[in-house]
Amino acid sequence: MDTKQEIKIQKEYIEKIKQIVKENQKYAIFTMGCQLNENDSEKICGMLEEIGYKKTEDIKKADLVIFNTCCVRENAEERLFGKLGELKKVKEENGTIIAIGGCMMQEKHITDKIKESYPFVDLLFGTHTLHKLPEDIYTVLTKKQKEEDIIDIEGKIYEGLPIKRKSNLQASVTIMNGCNNFCSYCIVPYVRGRERSRAPKDIIEEVQELAKNGYKEITLLGQNVNSYLRVEREKNIPFKEYHGVNSFATLLQEINKIEGIERIRFISPHPKDFTDDVIEAIAKCDKVCKLVHLPLQAGSTKVLKEMNRKYTKEQYLQLVEKMRKAIPNLTLSTDIIVGFPGETEEDFKDTLDVVKQVRYEQVFMFIYSRRIGTPGDKMENQIPEEIKHKRFDKLKELAEGIIAEKNQEYVGTKQKILAEGKSKNNEATLTGRTDSNKVVIFKGNDNLIGKMIEVEIIENHIWYLEGKEV
Ligand code: SAH
Ligand code: SF4
Ligand code: F3S
Repeated sequence: MDTKQEIKIQKEYIEKIKQIVKENQKYAIFTMGCQLNENDSEKICGMLEEIGYKKTEDIKKADLVIFNTCCVRENAEERLFGKLGELKKVKEENGTIIAIGGCMMQEKHITDKIKESYPFVDLLFGTHTLHKLPEDIYTVLTKKQKEEDIIDIEGKIYEGLPIKRKSNLQASVTIMNGCNNFCSYCIVPYVRGRERSRAPKDIIEEVQELAKNGYKEITLLGQNVNSYLRVEREKNIPFKEYHGVNSFATLLQEINKIEGIERIRFISPHPKDFTDDVIEAIAKCDKVCKLVHLPLQAGSTKVLKEMNRKYTKEQYLQLVEKMRKAIPNLTLSTDIIVGFPGETEEDFKDTLDVVKQVRYEQVFMFIYSRRIGTPGDKMENQIPEEIKHKRFDKLKELAEGIIAEKNQEYVGTKQKILAEGKSKNNEATLTGRTDSNKVVIFKGNDNLIGKMIEVEIIENHIWYLEGKEV
């Protein structure tokens, strides 16, 4: 069956459920992962709201509770099991339907554990069966039986799922899915399948539609967002070019032309895919933000090799230099893992050294977490927890020190920001972000919301900058 037909069938299930569920059904959703996972949740919400479910934050009022899980690090598991423990009583009292989906469901040891220890869960669905949620819910409702809908495949692309977006200014658009890189610490390739890209036309039309509906900022998403259409080109898998779009660089250029869109971001790229055309496109496209995420993971060439990252310390630093030369006002953010198996003090110093040299705008730091089924988990020289934590603290101190210095450098500068809304803590002020993703709070009229405006930064408050309109 082709994917279009599969979606059509799901729409029929939505109609069927409408006929059998009572009015005013409510759902609660917990999203535990990355932006892709969040974008999937927006699709889950889209399907549920199409059925007629209304969202609630209160699990006690929910008829259906959905978890969209992540498994990239261990703490996600603890959070899920903790929440499930809590839900048991709620279910006993209210008969709540409990469904769990997302990346963690692609791991057999996890689904086994849920079936054994949390038998009250009604539905388990994986990353490749998200689009079948209506059918799965229908089965649970009509057959009153537990349902498991998880398959292990390379993955397909489904277009045309309903979507309920969180914001009406900023939208995420998944452009590719899956990963072929198999970094040795990482579970993502096992739970998300192989790289596959959406057709250029589908993406462009989605962004055009978003622009028409008043969206200003688009974030292009993919586990390896800048390898968009790479596999298709390399393996001669046919795809239809649209307006000349046949690569990540040409996609950026085409989206840059869409009227109404003011900002384009993308996450998460891989350093190996910052080819010259991509660097040039970032430099040339005025709407593409000059904050680039460049995941380092480790500074030591030896560790990078063990991690299967496909670049050395020197190559990474050369790439940074090259991008700095080509892209005026470039700022960088990164991901770093400490305590990968075999990481010595010397290796760790290389990580600190790169952080000192690059001076990132933002650093996402992680303690290495063993993931069952990955090569890293089988390596013998695992680092004791205590050492991992010590290194983490050291890295944090260095990175945060640099970030604080950089924040201070903003004071006195003029910044373009997209006014996103009222600030949470003070209704009298507005909040927005700089190109480099720094939060700016400023006094301003509500009619500025949704507009790009220029502010002067007047103070640095560590977690945010304070600005005034100029
Ligand atoms: N596709 C993205 C990564 C998604 S995971 C990318 O390549 O950037 C986000 C981050 O989690 C990774 O960049 C890495 O720093 C971290 N991470 C992944 N697996 C991990 C593990 N086993 N332990 C600790 N951190 C991990
Ligand atoms: Fe994981 Fe590496 Fe793929 Fe990123 S590129 S998702 S870190 S395997
Ligand atoms: Fe987690 Fe899956 Fe994203 S494992 S980081 S939710 S791709």
